[in-house]
Order: sequence, then C-alpha cells, then structure tokens
Amino acid sequence: MQTTFKLNGRNVTVNTEDDALLLWTIREDLKLTGTKFGCGRALCGACTVHLDGQPIRSCVTPLKAIGGKSVTTIEGLSEEGHPLQQSWVKEQVPQCGYCQSGQIMQAATLLAENPSATRDEITTHMNGIICRCGTYTRIVKAIERASELMK
Ligand code: FES
Ligand code: FES
Repeated sequence: MQTTFKLNGRNVTVNTEDDALLLWTIREDLKLTGTKFGCGRALCGACTVHLDGQPIRSCVTPLKAIGGKSVTTIEGLSEEGHPLQQSWVKEQVPQCGYCQSGQIMQAATLLAENPSATRDEITTHMNGIICRCGTYTRIVKAIERASELMK
C-alpha cells in the first residue's frame, strides 16, 4: 500500500503493509522516534500526535486513514521551541521522560484553541495521558506557564 501524507509540513510517501499503523510508520519507516509506544491499545497516550490539528493516538490509527492529511509529531511542533517546550524545561517536568512527548502534544492542542485555559480545563484535557512517574503536578504548572507566554 502506498500512502502520501504531510508530516511536519512536508509531503512524504511510504510503502507499507495494508494494515500498517501510523505509530510504526512514523518510528520505523520515517525514523522519527520522539513518538513513543506505551500500550498499543489507545489507553496511555504516549503515542499522541496531531492529525489535522487534533490529538490522536497513533498506535491504533490505520495508515490508510491518513492519506492526504497532515500529521505533526513532537519533532515538528515548533522550529524555535514551542512555549510548552520552554515551560517544560523551566518546570523540570520529566522524570524518565517516556510519556512526555505525548503530554506535550496533547497540551498543545488545548493551548492552540484556548491559550487562557483554566486549571480545570487543563486537567480535563490532559486526563488519560498517563505518566507512570507521576509528574502530573509539574505538567499542569508547565501548561499554566506556557499559557502565560501565549497570552
Ligand atoms: S501507545 Fe498509544 S495510547 Fe498507549
Ligand atoms: S516521566 Fe516517566 S512516565 Fe512520565
């Protein structure tokens, strides 16, 4: 199966099995390894990327649903450093780091639509993106810091 889509702003074409999943195409065929495999069952959020600006779980997204669409991964979120990435550093959010690109990609879709999100809106939006290291408090603080930068 041949599929052409936009990845981080440029067109890519891949040849894969018919049942290929977006996560593995990104990681193995296109060598962008910032997007992580956690559960493979849409349960943890480690594999979150943007599809036409909306957060999706790439581990369960068939590549055949992606043709002609636009995918953004953590590598393409921002050329100069997204306010979230800057805030993540300031708040020293990561522990092991494994979940963090999924956390940032999920948060980015909230601030794109609502840069003034309240704490309740942040926790609701981030619900379901699991951090086994329990960095949730720092994640919320970093999103609030980024929100200030984006106002
Ligand atoms: S790896 Fe996709 S949701 Fe867990
Ligand atoms: S920082 Fe380790 S899983 Fe989130």
